[in-house]
Amino acid sequence: MSHQRVEPLDVEAIRAEYPILDQSVDGTPLVYLDSAATAQTPDPVVDAMSDYYRETNANVHRGIHHLSQQASAAYEEAHDRVAEFVGASGGRKELVFTKNTTESENLIAHAWGLRELGPGDEVVLTQMEHHASLVTWQQVAMRTGADVKYIEVTEDGRLDMDHARECITDDTAMLSAVHVSNTLGTVNPVNELVDLAHEHDALTFIDGAQAVPTRPVDVEAIDADFYAFSGHKMAGPTGIGCLYGKEALLAELDPYLYGGGMIRKVTYDDSTWGEVPWKFEPGTPPIAEAVGLHAAVDYLEEIGMERVQAHEEHLAEAAYDALSDIDGLTIYGPEPGPDRAGLVSFTLENVHAHDLASICNDHAVAIRAGDHCTQPLHDTLGVAATARASFYVYNTVDEIEPLVEAIEDAQSLFA
Ligand SMILES: Cc1ncc(COP(=O)(O)O)c(C=O)c1O
Repeated sequence: MSHQRVEPLDVEAIRAEYPILDQSVDGTPLVYLDSAATAQTPDPVVDAMSDYYRETNANVHRGIHHLSQQASAAYEEAHDRVAEFVGASGGRKELVFTKNTTESENLIAHAWGLRELGPGDEVVLTQMEHHASLVTWQQVAMRTGADVKYIEVTEDGRLDMDHARECITDDTAMLSAVHVSNTLGTVNPVNELVDLAHEHDALTFIDGAQAVPTRPVDVEAIDADFYAFSGHKMAGPTGIGCLYGKEALLAELDPYLYGGGMIRKVTYDDSTWGEVPWKFEPGTPPIAEAVGLHAAVDYLEEIGMERVQAHEEHLAEAAYDALSDIDGLTIYGPEPGPDRAGLVSFTLENVHAHDLASICNDHAVAIRAGDHCTQPLHDTLGVAATARASFYVYNTVDEIEPLVEAIEDAQSLFA
């Protein structure tokens, strides 16, 4: 594995900050293996948000009173802190708060895509895009007359880079690719993809919803033009997501949503916009959530993202090995290694993924079943649904055993 030399996590100490994990379902200790959907939130993040509500709560950018000034400062600083966490040196000028990754995708697809795309332009996606990217670009392409192309996935769950080189041409206006696949666990070669797109003067959007929570990410090293992620998958709260964009690109884009808080001057006839990021954040923003996300970033940085990654890779490998021993079980995505993240999707012969998840629930094991918002990818894999176990900093290798027992139980029930 790639990061074996970092100091292992003290999972027991980590779990002490997640009281939600210390519960039983019908008398059996809960095993939470659904962090790729939403990760749990540690006490320091919950405390930061409850302190905010107890001590600082007010609307931002509007008041000159003490609380409003404090809330505004906390909200603004959160942008800088999160920007720093992902290596964006422009701070708040490059980091917009949205509702989630999905809204970040929509922001660029609408603000940039509706203006720039037209017949003859191509948007290149991968076959493993989440619907957040796939549906959004598909619909904006339909409205503008642009075409959408998909880079194919190989048998072993990686991107076919030969096909990527065929797909990305001088007609490519935008390459939008997922950094880490939420279904296959594949870590895509985003630097190479971005370089390829830039060689053809295309812009790039990277969906980092599963990457930022689980590994060190440096948006400038990737050279992505836009990069998106969600608070709730990285030990932060729901209701807040992020859009990184290169300063010059964000500065020249028009807003996507309109209203108060984002304007410079309004008359009955016309309006002008404030600075980035405020021009993309109309209305009352997620203030407490920004405070929580700031705390989540502090929390993750204190653990160390390299250790988070190593822990995830270790768990994924252990799960991969344990599940591989089960007859009739198929695992999707690459074998464990540096291009495989900490989640494992699988199917079990004769057992529908939903039945499997339901029997896992009987064993107090929380996994996800369905298409994981990647329906076309599931069509390509030839399955309607998969079951997915995903891990985070608080999971232990011992928690894989109850998963295996639940799967074996399902197997005997449906034999
Ligand atoms: C790869 C990927 N992209 C986008 C999303 C959408 O994230 P959100 O629901 O927070 O907008 C997810 C969520 O599962 C994801 O895994």
